[in-house]
Order: sequence, then structure tokens, then C-alpha cells
Amino acid sequence: MESNLNPKEQRIAILHIPGEEPIELPILSGTEGKDVIDIKNLSAKGYFTYDPGLLATASCQSKITFINGEKGILLHRGYPIAELAMQTSYLELCYLLLYKELPNQAQLSEFKNKISHNTMVHEQIPKLFQAFRRDAHPMAIMCGIAGALSAFYHEQINVSNPKDRELVAIRLLAKIPTLAAMAYKYSEGQPFMYPQNNLSYAGNFLHMMFATPCEPYVVNPILEKAMDRIFILHADHEQNASTSSVRFAGSTGANPYACIAAGIAALWGPAHGGANEACLRMLKTIGSVERIPEFIARAKDKNDPFRLMGFGHRVYKNYDPRATVMKETCHEVLKELNIQDHKLLDVAMELEKIALQDPYFIERKLYPNVDFYSGITLSAIGIPPQMFTVIFAVARTIGWITHWCEMQQDPSSKIVRPRQLYTGVPTRHVVPMYRR
Ligand code: CMC
Repeated sequence: MESNLNPKEQRIAILHIPGEEPIELPILSGTEGKDVIDIKNLSAKGYFTYDPGLLATASCQSKITFINGEKGILLHRGYPIAELAMQTSYLELCYLLLYKELPNQAQLSEFKNKISHNTMVHEQIPKLFQAFRRDAHPMAIMCGIAGALSAFYHEQINVSNPKDRELVAIRLLAKIPTLAAMAYKYSEGQPFMYPQNNLSYAGNFLHMMFATPCEPYVVNPILEKAMDRIFILHADHEQNASTSSVRFAGSTGANPYACIAAGIAALWGPAHGGANEACLRMLKTIGSVERIPEFIARAKDKNDPFRLMGFGHRVYKNYDPRATVMKETCHEVLKELNIQDHKLLDVAMELEKIALQDPYFIERKLYPNVDFYSGITLSAIGIPPQMFTVIFAVARTIGWITHWCEMQQDPSSKIVRPRQLYTGVPTRHVVPMYRR
């Protein structure tokens, strides 16, 4: 990967440690965003840095996505997320992320063709599902099944060959929705539905989720558009926990399908991708507008572990730009389905209103994030809460694999090996058993 970092114009930060020579640290500038102090040679001077949660650490260079959390900006390859959501399809965005430019019509058709001719999974894979309990969480199934893809395609991948990397990306984009729908069908005890290549990416996913062999299934275009938009809004988000997990695993040279399984595992947590499921459950628990003050008080109480799910973000200290689009999509879906009296939406809108006026949330810059409205939308589409994070994983697969591809081409990539501040027992010696 060529670098935008110009050493001739570098500014230098000076680190003064009492009793030692000053240490010069180059300051690097990207194309957008904060400057970064390059500390990679600090360990040679006898120091590590301490940054739990990597809050102040740029773990890599990347050209894929930019976020300005203070201003609520999200760009993919330079394009604002709202423009992409309104003017492109999910597959156009996938193309943009993978190939760096938006496709023209011919490029998009060729890309779609490649994807749709890889949507089926090996006939051995349905057998793997039988090993899971019917009530297994679909994210648990996804961790296992995505990792299992590595057993099907291990020998054929040379990670330094761009054609092989592209094939991995195409296969994942094509097959993860098939596996996700299979996880749902398995939990319902219904037969798996083969993909339909004449449908759009989102339409095919709805078909695999909701069609049965007994009757024809017609994709509702409004729900198809909403599904596509949900995929767009979750496609990538720079170095979040799941993407970093994919990069960490990828840095060892691990099989890319296994790296994606690592991403799925990290995404599952309620502080990350699991928040949409947790948010809908929270709205159901609150149940009515009258009970909101009780839950706001609980969210503010330091002795209560309760948090307002769908609120707050590690990076956004402003309204999440994805939440704005999601809210609009949510209203469109409810209107299309003629759901005028939607109790959960009423609770969500009132909760948002109250929280945004409350000094606790204002001072901490806690705004609704993308998951605040996605749960209501997915639920109106007919997707059960335990599938919400799976949908997130389907959408985020393109982000994960694009980062994995970028990392494989980056000459500065190294195996990830953070250090630590050891606070355990200092050196001691084993006492023989008879003296303990
Ligand atoms: N409800 C109540 N208080 C909160 C919340 C919340 N949702 N989020 C943060 N706070 C408080 C927190 O208690 C702390 O207060 P104090 O300064 O008094 O100790 C302060 O705000 C800062 O919180 P933090 O945990 O240090 O912030 P963080 O950047 O480490 O955490 C977060 C970010 C997303 C994990 C957190 O806001 C959270 O748990 N939110 C709810 C879960 C959620 O919606 N996650 C989805 C994120 S968007 C999807 C994605 O991109 O994965």
C-alpha cells in the first residue's frame, strides 16, 4: 500500500522522560482526521505505551472508511454515508469498498453475476447444521459455520495473490447470506431455501429467509429496499472491535474464513453488534411511554448495570449519521406495512426525546446510534430479535473482508502483538510441596 505520509513535512513530538535524553516521535498526517504520533520505535527506547481499549491508538493505516465522531461524519472511500444510502445499492457499495471506485453499469452487472453464481453452499454444509441444537443462538451457529468454510477452501488460497483474495471476498459476500438464512430456517424447523439468482441481493436474502417450498414468495419492494439500506448502513465502520479482530487474526496468516469467524464472534457482544437485539428487548421491557423515566433513572444510576441500549458510541460524540437514515427507513417500513399504532416506536421516539434533553446524556455526548431504530425496522420486516446481529454480520462481511484484503497488501502490516503493563506477583521461586 502506498503511503500518504510525507516524511519531509513531518512535525516531531518530543517526549521528555525525567533523567533521560528527549525522544523524538514523528507526527503523521492522513488525508482527513487527527494527526497521529508514531510511537513504533518507542519500545527500542525501553518503553511501551498504555492504552486500554486502544482508545488513543491508530492500529494501522487504512484508505477504506473515515469517521469524524465529533462531527458525526462517516465516509466510505470518501463518500458520505447518507449519499451512499440514498443513491446506491448495497452491491454498489460492496464494489466501492473492494475495488475503491463506484462501478459503472457494466462493472456492476459483472460483479452481480459473480456474486449470484457463488451463492450456493457445498452440499455437505447443511449436514453441519444438524450438529447444533434447534434452540442454539444463530450467532453461535454463524461462528461455527463461517469458520467451517475454511475447511472447504483451505488449500486453494494463496493470500498474496490478488485473484485469490478477490475470490475469497466474492465467496463470502455470496455465501454468508445463504448461511445466515439457513441458521434462521434451522431454528424454525423449516427446509432450507436455495438462493434465487434472478433476485437482488436483499431480495434473495428475504426469499431465503421467508419463502417455503409450498407456495410462491413475492418480495415486497419496500422491504427489499429497507433490507438493502440496513446492509448499507452496517457495511463498514473502520477499526471497530470485530474488524480489528479480523485484522488481528489475519495478521498471523490465518485462513480468511476463520478470520471472518473471529469477526462474527467479536460482533456478537451487546456492546457491539448485539446492541440491536438488546435494544429491541429493552424497548419491549420498557413497554410504555409512562415507564420511560424509571429506565432513564436506572441508566443514570452508577450502582445499576442497566444502560440505554442503542445509545452512545465509542467514536461518535454526536448523532450517529447512520441513525438518521435508519430512523427514516424505519418510518418508511412502518408506513408500507400500514403499522400506524406501533407501541415500540412510540417508546423509542419518546425515549430519544427525553434522553436528548437530559443533562446526563448531553454532558456525556450520548446520542442514538444505528441500532436504536434498526431493531424496530427489522422486527417490522418479520425478522426475529435473535437474528438481528446475524443481519449485522451479513452486512459487515464486506467491511471485514475489505480490511483483510487491505492488510494483506500493506507492507507495514505485522503480526499483531500488543504488550502489557504487568501488575502481577514479581519473580518468586517454587517452594517444594512439603514446605507449602
Ligand atoms: N446508557 C447510559 N450511560 C451510558 C451509556 C448508555 N448507553 N453509554 C455510555 N454511558 C456512560 C457511561 O456510564 C460513562 O459514564 P461516566 O463517565 O459517568 O462513567 C460515560 O457514558 C462514558 O461511557 P463509556 O462506557 O466509557 O464509553 P465507551 O466509549 O467505552 O462505550 C459503548 C461506548 C457503545 C460501549 C457504550 O456507549 C454502550 O454500552 N452503549 C450501549 C450499547 C450500544 O448501543 N452499543 C452499540 C454501538 S453502535 C453499533 C456498533 O457500531 O457496534
